[in-house]
Amino acid sequence: MSESMERRRIVLGVTGSIAAYKAAELARILVSRGYEVRVVMTQSGMEFITPTTMQAVTGQPVVTDFWDKSEASGIGHIQLADWAEALVIAPATADVIAKLAMGFAESPLLAVALATKAPILVAPAMNMNMYSNPKTQENIEELRKRGVRFVDPEEGELACGWNGTGRLADPEEIFFHVRRILSPQDFAGKRVLITTGPTREALDPVRFITNRSSGKMGVALAREAFRRGAEVTLVHGPVHIKVPGPVKREEVTSTAEMRKAVMDHMESKSEMPDVVIMAAAVADYRPAEVADLKMKKSDKTPTIKLVENPDILHELGKSKVDEKKPILVGFAVETGEIEDLLNEARTKLKNKNADMIVGNFANEAFDLDTNRVWLVDKHGRQEEVATTYKSRVANKILDTILTL
Ligand SMILES: Cc1cc2nc3c(=O)[nH]c(=O)nc-3n(C[C@H](O)[C@H](O)[C@H](O)COP(=O)(O)O)c2cc1C
Repeated sequence: MSESMERRRIVLGVTGSIAAYKAAELARILVSRGYEVRVVMTQSGMEFITPTTMQAVTGQPVVTDFWDKSEASGIGHIQLADWAEALVIAPATADVIAKLAMGFAESPLLAVALATKAPILVAPAMNMNMYSNPKTQENIEELRKRGVRFVDPEEGELACGWNGTGRLADPEEIFFHVRRILSPQDFAGKRVLITTGPTREALDPVRFITNRSSGKMGVALAREAFRRGAEVTLVHGPVHIKVPGPVKREEVTSTAEMRKAVMDHMESKSEMPDVVIMAAAVADYRPAEVADLKMKKSDKTPTIKLVENPDILHELGKSKVDEKKPILVGFAVETGEIEDLLNEARTKLKNKNADMIVGNFANEAFDLDTNRVWLVDKHGRQEEVATTYKSRVANKILDTILTL
């Protein structure tokens, strides 16, 4: 299911937390990505951030009061409840969470929450003791049972001076969850293991051999698989990566470490992935010897002897439990002609016992936000995905995985 099929009408509830200022940033992110945002604020919320700010960011009137006839919005709470394709409450106070759990309707926000049929996402923000209070946890549990989704608060320094869990999740993180609640969950219940980024093969304590991979393709796959409901683990080399919090991250350095991380998942019978996507640009070779101390400059030009690294994709292909478990997707990167790339992809598909190979060119893929790929699968299908954003390429790959 492509991104463009996401629905895009959001009611954003802002309540009386010190973190209310972050709601403006969340609204900005949503508006900048093409979402239509209507803000509803509680009376306490307005003590922390003004409706003027929220109106300026969203370009829409803000609903604050049931009874204000002059409310420029001209839209009642029931209309708003019907209009919403998602209700996002960020930040959500302990108070509003309790009232949601009880089914109160004393404010426009609570009334919208009660009346809407749209999914509800709640991002709590409060003092750590308020958050861990059994009553708050009971309220959260009750709401979860009713299908309300949560973006868990972060751990860290809180405005009240305490250090603990209760800080509002980062607005970008909340955005990942907004996308998820608006998307068809066609990967729900599927465990997806993705590798990405380069590996580094040490020569000595300060030098290494690596490649130009940025990890962006695997990150796009991880984000989109999460959006579509998958339980995602991302094993990545040393690159800067931003993925939704629930995506499990395992950072490795060398190919040997990446192999171990991947194989550990394969050996776990209960947590065996349903899909493995190997998007990492692993080093095929590593130095035969790693010097303990920094290699000194000398008159003699050194020669580096290389030895072959483990072939993770090959090993995975051999260890497949059955034809469908796990679905195995590899990447092939080339620098030559299209025919070379396709030949390489077909050979890899067969030799590695993979279900699909994604072929791409180094100059069109490495470190770019876009990519052009060819999908070559075990059913003999071959499809070109013309140059587009890696998020779209990722969705095309995920669409095809569902047909393998
Ligand atoms: C300075 C200040 C900061 C507050 N921060 C929070 C907070 O982060 N989380 C919270 O649950 N309540 C917080 N409160 C308490 C709420 O504002 C209070 O419970 C209020 O009734 C919430 O109303 P609402 O849920 O309708 O917005 C804070 C109060 C003050 C005075």
